[in-house]
Amino acid sequence: MTTNVHGTHLVNRELKGSERQKALEDAKSLKKLSISAWTISDLELIGIGGFSPLEGFMTRQDYENVVHNMRLENGEIWSIPITLPVSEALAEKYQVGEEIALVGEDEFIYGTMIIKDKYTYDQELEALNVYGTTDEEHAGVQKLYEKGNVYLGGPITLLNRPNHGEFQDFYLDPAETRQLFADLGWKTVVGFQTRNPVHRAHEYIQKTALESVDGLLLNPLVGETKAGDIPADVRMESYQTILKLYYPVDRTRLVIYPAAMRYAGPREAILHAIVRKNYGCTHFIVGRDHAGVGDYYGTYDAQKLISQYEDELGITIFKFEHAFYCETCENMATSKTCPHDKEHHIHLSGTKVRELLRNGERPPKEFSRPEVADVLIKGMQEV
Ligand code: ADX
Repeated sequence: MTTNVHGTHLVNRELKGSERQKALEDAKSLKKLSISAWTISDLELIGIGGFSPLEGFMTRQDYENVVHNMRLENGEIWSIPITLPVSEALAEKYQVGEEIALVGEDEFIYGTMIIKDKYTYDQELEALNVYGTTDEEHAGVQKLYEKGNVYLGGPITLLNRPNHGEFQDFYLDPAETRQLFADLGWKTVVGFQTRNPVHRAHEYIQKTALESVDGLLLNPLVGETKAGDIPADVRMESYQTILKLYYPVDRTRLVIYPAAMRYAGPREAILHAIVRKNYGCTHFIVGRDHAGVGDYYGTYDAQKLISQYEDELGITIFKFEHAFYCETCENMATSKTCPHDKEHHIHLSGTKVRELLRNGERPPKEFSRPEVADVLIKGMQEV
Protein backbone atom coordinates (compact mmCIF):
# COMPACT_ATOMS: atom_id res chain seq x y z
CA MET A 1 0.00 0.00 0.00
CA THR A 2 1.32 3.44 -0.91
CA THR A 3 1.68 5.78 2.01
CA ASN A 4 1.03 9.49 2.30
CA VAL A 5 -1.66 9.59 -0.34
CA HIS A 6 -4.89 11.57 -0.12
CA GLY A 7 -7.30 8.84 1.00
CA THR A 8 -6.19 5.29 1.69
CA HIS A 9 -4.25 4.33 -1.45
CA LEU A 10 -3.03 5.59 -4.79
CA VAL A 11 -5.95 5.03 -7.12
CA ASN A 12 -5.26 3.13 -10.32
CA ARG A 13 -8.22 2.98 -12.70
CA GLU A 14 -6.20 2.11 -15.75
CA LEU A 15 -6.25 -1.18 -17.62
CA LYS A 16 -3.16 -2.52 -19.32
CA GLY A 17 -2.18 -5.44 -21.57
CA SER A 18 -4.80 -8.01 -22.58
CA GLU A 19 -7.40 -6.65 -20.16
CA ARG A 20 -7.12 -3.30 -21.86
CA GLN A 21 -7.34 -4.87 -25.33
CA LYS A 22 -10.51 -6.68 -24.36
CA ALA A 23 -12.05 -3.59 -22.73
CA LEU A 24 -11.24 -1.53 -25.83
CA GLU A 25 -12.87 -4.16 -28.04
CA ASP A 26 -15.96 -4.25 -25.79
CA ALA A 27 -16.10 -0.44 -25.66
CA LYS A 28 -16.69 -0.32 -29.41
CA SER A 29 -20.21 -1.63 -28.88
CA LEU A 30 -21.02 0.82 -26.05
CA LYS A 31 -22.88 4.09 -26.50
CA LYS A 32 -20.34 6.84 -27.09
CA LEU A 33 -20.04 10.16 -25.36
CA SER A 34 -17.80 12.77 -26.95
CA ILE A 35 -15.67 14.49 -24.30
CA SER A 36 -13.61 17.69 -24.38
CA ALA A 37 -9.86 18.00 -23.92
CA TRP A 38 -10.59 19.31 -20.39
CA THR A 39 -12.61 16.19 -19.52
CA ILE A 40 -9.93 13.95 -21.04
CA SER A 41 -7.38 15.54 -18.72
CA ASP A 42 -9.66 14.95 -15.72
CA LEU A 43 -10.20 11.35 -16.86
CA GLU A 44 -6.45 10.84 -17.07
CA LEU A 45 -5.79 12.34 -13.65
CA ILE A 46 -8.45 10.15 -12.08
CA GLY A 47 -7.15 7.07 -13.89
CA ILE A 48 -3.49 7.53 -12.90
CA GLY A 49 -4.29 8.45 -9.30
CA GLY A 50 -3.40 12.13 -9.42
CA PHE A 51 -6.90 12.83 -8.12
CA SER A 52 -6.88 10.03 -5.50
CA PRO A 53 -9.19 9.12 -3.81
CA LEU A 54 -11.54 9.90 -6.72
CA GLU A 55 -12.37 6.83 -8.79
CA GLY A 56 -14.62 8.57 -11.25
CA PHE A 57 -16.57 11.72 -12.04
CA MET A 58 -18.47 12.98 -9.02
CA THR A 59 -21.94 11.72 -8.20
CA ARG A 60 -24.43 14.18 -6.71
CA GLN A 61 -23.57 13.28 -3.10
CA ASP A 62 -19.88 13.98 -3.56
CA TYR A 63 -20.51 17.01 -5.74
CA GLU A 64 -22.89 18.71 -3.32
CA ASN A 65 -20.66 17.96 -0.36
CA VAL A 66 -17.70 19.46 -2.21
CA VAL A 67 -19.59 22.58 -3.24
CA HIS A 68 -21.09 23.19 0.20
CA ASN A 69 -18.55 21.75 2.65
CA MET A 70 -15.35 21.25 0.65
CA ARG A 71 -15.48 17.55 1.48
CA LEU A 72 -16.35 14.33 -0.28
CA GLU A 73 -19.27 12.32 1.02
CA ASN A 74 -16.80 10.17 2.99
CA GLY A 75 -15.48 13.24 4.80
CA GLU A 76 -12.16 13.62 2.94
CA ILE A 77 -11.22 17.20 2.05
CA TRP A 78 -11.85 18.00 -1.61
CA SER A 79 -12.14 21.54 -2.89
CA ILE A 80 -12.99 21.52 -6.62
CA PRO A 81 -15.81 19.56 -8.33
CA ILE A 82 -14.48 17.03 -10.85
CA THR A 83 -17.49 16.52 -13.06
CA LEU A 84 -18.59 15.33 -16.47
CA PRO A 85 -21.00 17.90 -17.96
CA VAL A 86 -23.46 17.21 -20.77
CA SER A 87 -26.35 19.18 -22.21
CA GLU A 88 -29.89 18.32 -21.11
CA ALA A 89 -30.68 17.03 -24.61
CA LEU A 90 -27.65 14.77 -24.62
CA ALA A 91 -28.32 13.54 -21.09
CA GLU A 92 -31.61 12.02 -22.34
CA LYS A 93 -29.58 9.52 -24.35
CA TYR A 94 -27.83 7.99 -21.37
CA GLN A 95 -29.38 5.95 -18.56
CA VAL A 96 -28.20 5.38 -15.01
CA GLY A 97 -26.65 1.92 -14.78
CA GLU A 98 -25.36 2.02 -18.33
CA GLU A 99 -21.69 1.75 -19.28
CA ILE A 100 -20.55 4.25 -21.89
CA ALA A 101 -17.40 4.83 -23.95
CA LEU A 102 -15.68 8.20 -23.47
CA VAL A 103 -14.46 9.34 -26.84
CA GLY A 104 -12.33 12.33 -27.81
CA GLU A 105 -12.96 14.63 -30.74
CA ASP A 106 -10.35 12.51 -32.52
CA GLU A 107 -12.76 9.52 -32.21
CA PHE A 108 -10.25 7.82 -29.95
CA ILE A 109 -11.68 5.86 -26.99
CA TYR A 110 -9.99 7.25 -23.87
CA GLY A 111 -11.97 5.29 -21.34
CA THR A 112 -15.31 4.02 -20.13
CA MET A 113 -17.65 5.01 -17.34
CA ILE A 114 -20.49 3.30 -15.54
CA ILE A 115 -23.18 5.93 -15.05
CA LYS A 116 -24.13 5.89 -11.38
CA ASP A 117 -25.81 9.25 -11.31
CA LYS A 118 -27.29 11.87 -13.62
CA TYR A 119 -28.20 15.18 -12.04
CA THR A 120 -28.81 18.84 -12.66
CA TYR A 121 -26.92 21.42 -10.63
CA ASP A 122 -26.94 25.10 -9.85
CA GLN A 123 -24.20 26.80 -11.86
CA GLU A 124 -24.37 30.06 -9.95
CA LEU A 125 -24.09 28.28 -6.64
CA GLU A 126 -21.08 26.33 -7.87
CA ALA A 127 -19.54 29.59 -9.13
CA LEU A 128 -20.14 31.39 -5.85
CA ASN A 129 -18.94 28.63 -3.55
CA VAL A 130 -16.00 27.37 -5.59
CA TYR A 131 -14.80 30.54 -7.34
CA GLY A 132 -16.09 33.05 -4.81
CA THR A 133 -17.91 35.03 -7.53
CA THR A 134 -20.73 34.68 -10.05
CA ASP A 135 -19.08 37.19 -12.37
CA GLU A 136 -18.89 35.74 -15.87
CA GLU A 137 -15.80 37.84 -16.56
CA HIS A 138 -13.92 35.46 -14.24
CA ALA A 139 -12.07 32.99 -16.52
CA GLY A 140 -13.08 29.92 -14.48
CA VAL A 141 -16.69 30.99 -14.03
CA GLN A 142 -16.94 31.72 -17.74
CA LYS A 143 -15.88 28.13 -18.46
CA LEU A 144 -18.38 26.82 -15.92
CA TYR A 145 -21.24 28.75 -17.50
CA GLU A 146 -20.38 27.25 -20.89
CA LYS A 147 -20.86 23.72 -19.52
CA GLY A 148 -23.92 21.56 -20.02
CA ASN A 149 -26.59 21.67 -17.31
CA VAL A 150 -26.38 17.99 -16.35
CA TYR A 151 -23.54 16.10 -14.73
CA LEU A 152 -22.95 12.38 -15.27
CA GLY A 153 -21.23 10.71 -12.32
CA GLY A 154 -19.68 7.30 -11.84
CA PRO A 155 -16.47 5.26 -11.80
CA ILE A 156 -14.22 5.38 -14.85
CA THR A 157 -11.70 3.11 -16.47
CA LEU A 158 -8.80 4.67 -18.34
CA LEU A 159 -7.96 2.83 -21.56
CA ASN A 160 -5.78 5.33 -23.39
CA ARG A 161 -3.79 8.15 -21.88
CA PRO A 162 -3.81 11.28 -24.02
CA ASN A 163 -0.67 11.97 -25.99
CA HIS A 164 1.29 14.82 -24.45
CA GLY A 165 3.15 15.51 -27.67
CA GLU A 166 6.28 17.57 -27.21
CA PHE A 167 5.92 17.28 -23.41
CA GLN A 168 5.94 13.48 -23.36
CA ASP A 169 9.58 13.43 -22.16
CA PHE A 170 8.45 15.37 -19.10
CA TYR A 171 5.52 13.11 -18.30
CA LEU A 172 5.51 10.87 -15.25
CA ASP A 173 2.48 9.52 -13.43
CA PRO A 174 2.20 9.62 -9.62
CA ALA A 175 3.49 6.05 -9.20
CA GLU A 176 6.52 6.98 -11.31
CA THR A 177 7.33 10.23 -9.48
CA ARG A 178 7.10 8.34 -6.18
CA GLN A 179 9.52 5.74 -7.53
CA LEU A 180 11.80 8.48 -8.85
CA PHE A 181 11.96 10.23 -5.48
CA ALA A 182 12.74 6.91 -3.78
CA ASP A 183 15.49 6.16 -6.33
CA LEU A 184 16.98 9.61 -5.82
CA GLY A 185 16.88 9.14 -2.07
CA TRP A 186 14.66 12.19 -1.64
CA LYS A 187 12.73 11.81 1.61
CA THR A 188 11.30 15.31 1.45
CA VAL A 189 10.18 16.92 -1.80
CA VAL A 190 8.62 20.31 -2.40
CA GLY A 191 6.14 20.61 -5.28
CA PHE A 192 5.72 23.80 -7.30
CA GLN A 193 2.58 24.59 -9.29
CA THR A 194 2.80 27.18 -12.04
CA ARG A 195 0.97 28.39 -15.13
CA ASN A 196 3.47 31.12 -15.98
CA PRO A 197 6.98 31.38 -17.38
CA VAL A 198 9.60 31.26 -14.65
CA HIS A 199 10.71 34.62 -13.23
CA ARG A 200 13.08 35.61 -10.47
CA ALA A 201 10.41 35.61 -7.75
CA HIS A 202 9.48 32.03 -8.67
CA GLU A 203 13.14 31.05 -8.63
CA TYR A 204 13.61 32.71 -5.26
CA ILE A 205 10.73 30.93 -3.55
CA GLN A 206 11.58 27.58 -5.16
CA LYS A 207 15.20 27.75 -4.06
CA THR A 208 14.37 29.08 -0.61
CA ALA A 209 12.04 26.10 -0.18
CA LEU A 210 14.67 23.73 -1.53
CA GLU A 211 17.03 24.86 1.24
CA SER A 212 14.80 22.93 3.66
CA VAL A 213 14.05 19.75 1.71
CA ASP A 214 15.84 17.11 -0.38
CA GLY A 215 14.33 17.83 -3.78
CA LEU A 216 12.25 20.20 -5.89
CA LEU A 217 9.48 19.01 -8.23
CA LEU A 218 8.76 21.71 -10.78
CA ASN A 219 5.30 20.81 -11.93
CA PRO A 220 3.98 23.30 -14.53
CA LEU A 221 0.36 22.93 -15.50
CA VAL A 222 0.12 22.23 -19.24
CA GLY A 223 -3.63 21.65 -19.63
CA GLU A 224 -6.13 24.24 -20.76
CA THR A 225 -5.44 27.84 -19.70
CA LYS A 226 -7.26 31.06 -20.49
CA ALA A 227 -6.60 33.24 -23.51
CA GLY A 228 -3.80 35.66 -22.71
CA ASP A 229 -1.75 33.22 -20.65
CA ILE A 230 1.64 32.31 -22.14
CA PRO A 231 1.33 29.01 -24.08
CA ALA A 232 2.58 25.88 -22.33
CA ASP A 233 5.33 25.15 -24.87
CA VAL A 234 6.91 28.56 -24.27
CA ARG A 235 6.62 28.11 -20.52
CA MET A 236 8.19 24.68 -20.69
CA GLU A 237 11.04 26.03 -22.79
CA SER A 238 11.62 28.78 -20.23
CA TYR A 239 11.96 26.07 -17.57
CA GLN A 240 14.29 23.90 -19.61
CA THR A 241 16.51 26.91 -20.26
CA ILE A 242 16.73 28.07 -16.66
CA LEU A 243 17.22 24.53 -15.35
CA LYS A 244 20.33 24.00 -17.46
CA LEU A 245 21.90 27.24 -16.27
CA TYR A 246 20.78 27.96 -12.74
CA TYR A 247 19.41 24.84 -11.00
CA PRO A 248 21.13 21.89 -9.34
CA VAL A 249 20.44 18.89 -11.60
CA ASP A 250 20.61 16.38 -8.79
CA ARG A 251 17.98 18.17 -6.72
CA THR A 252 15.43 19.28 -9.32
CA ARG A 253 13.02 17.49 -11.63
CA LEU A 254 10.68 18.97 -14.24
CA VAL A 255 7.45 17.02 -14.71
CA ILE A 256 4.25 18.26 -16.35
CA TYR A 257 0.94 18.52 -14.51
CA PRO A 258 -1.55 17.65 -17.26
CA ALA A 259 -4.57 19.41 -15.74
CA ALA A 260 -6.77 22.29 -16.81
CA MET A 261 -6.45 25.56 -14.89
CA ARG A 262 -9.55 26.60 -12.97
CA TYR A 263 -8.40 30.00 -11.64
CA ALA A 264 -10.29 29.21 -8.44
CA GLY A 265 -7.65 30.80 -6.17
CA PRO A 266 -7.91 29.51 -2.57
CA ARG A 267 -9.95 26.39 -3.38
CA GLU A 268 -7.67 25.51 -6.28
CA ALA A 269 -4.60 25.88 -4.02
CA ILE A 270 -6.06 23.03 -1.95
CA LEU A 271 -6.61 20.88 -5.04
CA HIS A 272 -3.05 21.64 -6.19
CA ALA A 273 -1.64 20.56 -2.82
CA ILE A 274 -3.69 17.34 -2.75
CA VAL A 275 -2.54 16.38 -6.24
CA ARG A 276 1.13 17.06 -5.44
CA LYS A 277 0.78 14.93 -2.31
CA ASN A 278 -0.50 12.14 -4.57
CA TYR A 279 2.56 12.64 -6.80
CA GLY A 280 4.70 12.03 -3.70
CA CYS A 281 5.53 15.54 -2.50
CA THR A 282 5.84 16.16 1.22
CA HIS A 283 5.76 19.95 0.85
CA PHE A 284 3.98 22.40 -1.44
CA ILE A 285 4.52 26.09 -2.20
CA VAL A 286 1.69 28.60 -1.95
CA GLY A 287 2.87 32.13 -2.68
CA ARG A 288 1.02 35.32 -3.50
CA ASP A 289 -2.46 35.04 -5.06
CA HIS A 290 -2.02 31.35 -5.84
CA ALA A 291 -4.17 30.26 -8.83
CA GLY A 292 -5.74 33.70 -8.84
CA VAL A 293 -6.96 35.81 -11.73
CA GLY A 294 -7.76 39.53 -11.90
CA ASP A 295 -8.64 41.02 -8.51
CA TYR A 296 -11.02 38.30 -7.39
CA TYR A 297 -8.93 37.06 -4.46
CA GLY A 298 -6.90 38.76 -1.76
CA THR A 299 -3.13 38.30 -2.06
CA TYR A 300 -3.01 35.82 0.83
CA ASP A 301 -6.53 34.32 0.69
CA ALA A 302 -5.18 31.00 -0.63
CA GLN A 303 -2.67 30.80 2.22
CA LYS A 304 -5.36 31.61 4.78
CA LEU A 305 -7.73 28.92 3.51
CA ILE A 306 -5.14 26.19 3.14
CA SER A 307 -3.72 26.93 6.60
CA GLN A 308 -7.05 25.86 8.12
CA TYR A 309 -6.71 22.42 6.54
CA GLU A 310 -2.95 21.93 6.57
CA ASP A 311 -2.80 19.32 9.36
CA GLU A 312 -5.57 17.28 7.84
CA LEU A 313 -4.13 17.52 4.33
CA GLY A 314 -0.90 15.87 5.46
CA ILE A 315 1.34 18.00 3.24
CA THR A 316 3.39 20.86 4.63
CA ILE A 317 2.69 24.20 3.01
CA PHE A 318 5.58 26.59 2.42
CA LYS A 319 3.94 30.02 2.35
CA PHE A 320 5.71 32.94 0.76
CA GLU A 321 4.89 36.59 0.82
CA HIS A 322 5.08 38.61 -2.36
CA ALA A 323 8.71 38.38 -3.53
CA PHE A 324 10.63 41.09 -5.44
CA TYR A 325 14.15 42.33 -6.08
CA CYS A 326 15.28 45.08 -3.69
CA GLU A 327 17.91 47.40 -5.18
CA THR A 328 19.17 48.41 -1.76
CA CYS A 329 19.41 44.89 -0.36
CA GLU A 330 20.75 43.84 -3.79
CA ASN A 331 18.76 40.67 -3.28
CA MET A 332 15.47 38.98 -3.86
CA ALA A 333 13.35 39.48 -0.75
CA THR A 334 9.86 39.82 0.65
CA SER A 335 8.43 42.35 3.08
CA LYS A 336 9.30 39.82 5.76
CA THR A 337 13.03 40.05 5.02
CA CYS A 338 13.47 43.53 3.50
CA PRO A 339 13.18 46.75 5.55
CA HIS A 340 13.04 49.16 2.58
CA ASP A 341 9.98 50.70 1.06
CA LYS A 342 8.49 50.20 -2.35
CA GLU A 343 10.67 52.71 -4.22
CA HIS A 344 13.61 50.35 -3.65
CA HIS A 345 11.82 47.40 -5.17
CA ILE A 346 11.68 46.39 -8.81
CA HIS A 347 8.09 45.81 -9.65
CA LEU A 348 6.72 45.18 -13.14
CA SER A 349 3.11 44.41 -13.96
CA GLY A 350 2.32 41.42 -16.15
CA THR A 351 1.02 43.83 -18.80
CA LYS A 352 4.28 45.80 -18.78
CA VAL A 353 6.35 42.62 -19.07
CA ARG A 354 4.28 41.38 -22.01
CA GLU A 355 4.65 44.78 -23.71
CA LEU A 356 8.44 44.67 -23.34
CA LEU A 357 8.65 41.12 -24.63
CA ARG A 358 6.40 41.86 -27.58
CA ASN A 359 8.71 44.74 -28.50
CA GLY A 360 11.63 42.36 -28.37
CA GLU A 361 13.02 43.94 -25.19
CA ARG A 362 14.28 42.03 -22.17
CA PRO A 363 12.77 42.98 -18.81
CA PRO A 364 15.42 43.91 -16.21
CA LYS A 365 17.62 40.98 -15.18
CA GLU A 366 16.38 41.44 -11.63
CA PHE A 367 12.94 40.45 -12.89
CA SER A 368 13.72 37.75 -15.43
CA ARG A 369 16.90 35.83 -16.28
CA PRO A 370 18.08 37.19 -19.66
CA GLU A 371 18.19 33.68 -21.14
CA VAL A 372 14.56 33.17 -20.12
CA ALA A 373 13.63 36.60 -21.49
CA ASP A 374 15.05 35.57 -24.87
CA VAL A 375 12.90 32.42 -24.91
CA LEU A 376 9.85 34.53 -24.12
CA ILE A 377 10.65 37.19 -26.73
CA LYS A 378 10.89 34.45 -29.34
CA GLY A 379 7.72 32.79 -28.01
CA MET A 380 5.72 36.05 -27.98
CA GLN A 381 6.60 36.70 -31.60
CA GLU A 382 5.28 33.31 -32.62
CA VAL A 383 1.92 33.75 -30.84
S1 ADX B 1 -0.53 30.03 -10.48
O1 ADX B 1 -1.83 30.42 -11.04
O2 ADX B 1 -0.06 28.76 -10.99
O3 ADX B 1 -0.55 30.12 -9.00
P1 ADX B 1 1.99 31.41 -11.06
O4 ADX B 1 2.57 30.48 -12.04
O5 ADX B 1 2.28 32.85 -11.30
O6 ADX B 1 0.41 31.23 -11.02
O7 ADX B 1 2.49 31.10 -9.60
C1 ADX B 1 3.06 29.91 -9.20
C2 ADX B 1 3.32 29.95 -7.70
O8 ADX B 1 4.25 31.00 -7.40
C3 ADX B 1 2.10 30.23 -6.84
O9 ADX B 1 2.23 29.56 -5.60
C4 ADX B 1 2.17 31.73 -6.62
O10 ADX B 1 1.52 32.09 -5.44
C5 ADX B 1 3.68 31.94 -6.50
N1 ADX B 1 4.14 33.29 -6.90
C6 ADX B 1 4.10 33.84 -8.14
N2 ADX B 1 4.67 35.06 -8.15
C7 ADX B 1 5.07 35.32 -6.89
C8 ADX B 1 5.73 36.43 -6.23
N3 ADX B 1 6.12 37.52 -6.88
N4 ADX B 1 5.97 36.31 -4.91
C9 ADX B 1 5.60 35.21 -4.20
N5 ADX B 1 4.97 34.14 -4.75
C10 ADX B 1 4.73 34.18 -6.08
